[in-house]
Amino acid sequence: MIRMFKPYISEKAAPALAEILKTDWIGQGPAVNRVEKKFEKMFGLSSALTVNSCTSALHLALVLSNVGDGDEVIAAPLTCSATNIPILHQKAKPVFADIQKDSLNIDPRSIKEKLTPRTKAILIVHWGGEPCDMDGILKIAEEKGIPVIEDAAHALGAKYKNRYIGTISDFTCFSFQAIKQITSVDGGMLVCKDHDAYKRGKLLRWYGIDRTFKGDIYWKFKVKEAGFKYHMNDVTATMLSVQLDDLAAVNARRREIVERYRESLSNVPGLTLLRGKKEQESGNWLFTILVERRDDFIKMMKDNDIETHMVHIRCDVYPIFGGKRLQLPVMNEVEANYISIPLHAGLTDEDVDKVIKTIRKGW
Ligand SMILES: Cc1ncc(COP(=O)(O)O)c(C=O)c1O
Repeated sequence: MIRMFKPYISEKAAPALAEILKTDWIGQGPAVNRVEKKFEKMFGLSSALTVNSCTSALHLALVLSNVGDGDEVIAAPLTCSATNIPILHQKAKPVFADIQKDSLNIDPRSIKEKLTPRTKAILIVHWGGEPCDMDGILKIAEEKGIPVIEDAAHALGAKYKNRYIGTISDFTCFSFQAIKQITSVDGGMLVCKDHDAYKRGKLLRWYGIDRTFKGDIYWKFKVKEAGFKYHMNDVTATMLSVQLDDLAAVNARRREIVERYRESLSNVPGLTLLRGKKEQESGNWLFTILVERRDDFIKMMKDNDIETHMVHIRCDVYPIFGGKRLQLPVMNEVEANYISIPLHAGLTDEDVDKVIKTIRKGW
């Protein structure tokens, strides 16, 4: 079976983990600080905070945006439930905007229509790693005076108009979960634009306690805000660090596969490719296509030992988000057609050939 995903594990991971496990410090410590600096340098940004998952990063970003009881957050419908569940934890309401047919990303025009006096933030997702229309989104956010939170779980290493995702808006959240471009087994990163938000986030990820505080902890130290146990530990940070060394190679291999898919599948009847904009570089986490008769497509691929997957379904249909199929014309239109085909750095050229041949012959 040609699988949709395969975790990428560097050969350096096991020896590095063996070393850190021999030390006396496996909790949050120097390895965490080092990997944050490394990440900042790699992507030309500052204020990167490691956390234990992208979900935690998203929750912290909402807290740091002061989203609370009764507020509204403009949200993307087509994404992992993890993107939007933290909005509920803040007792706020996700207001789903429609998506664009050529990218499945949130549509700035729809965002604009959904704004109300209660809108406190815009939470977007780069579907499959393809950057959203950031200029359009930032313009709306600036006019309204609200922050933009990017769920970049699919978009590590992606670029929008020559700028790395992570350097653009108020908050960017990355995932290092098992099947992302690179993994630290589980883990995440929150990048904050504003230094005060970063400082507050640093406290909140560890109960609200200042870990750098030196002095009489009983009498002088004050916990001023109830935080969370969201920090990363040194074992995970060690894993993340060696994995980051291979990110460029992993993403280059993903890009190569995507280029082959694009070349070979652009003129297959009954199959539409998403746009893949020239002026931006996708994180290439998913290769999503639109097909007619999706069930038949899935079966045809399965009969040829190739896995396909929708990966995420629209969030509005989950009972926690209201359980109703909302009037989102493009979302409604593509709902029955989108499907992703295998994409990971472990695919061989023969695997890619087989996927292409199967689709060209069988579809
Ligand atoms: C778009 C998106 N956001 C958030 C998450 C959650 O990431 P994590 O597992 O690191 O919390 C995922 C996980 O797959 C995802 O696909």
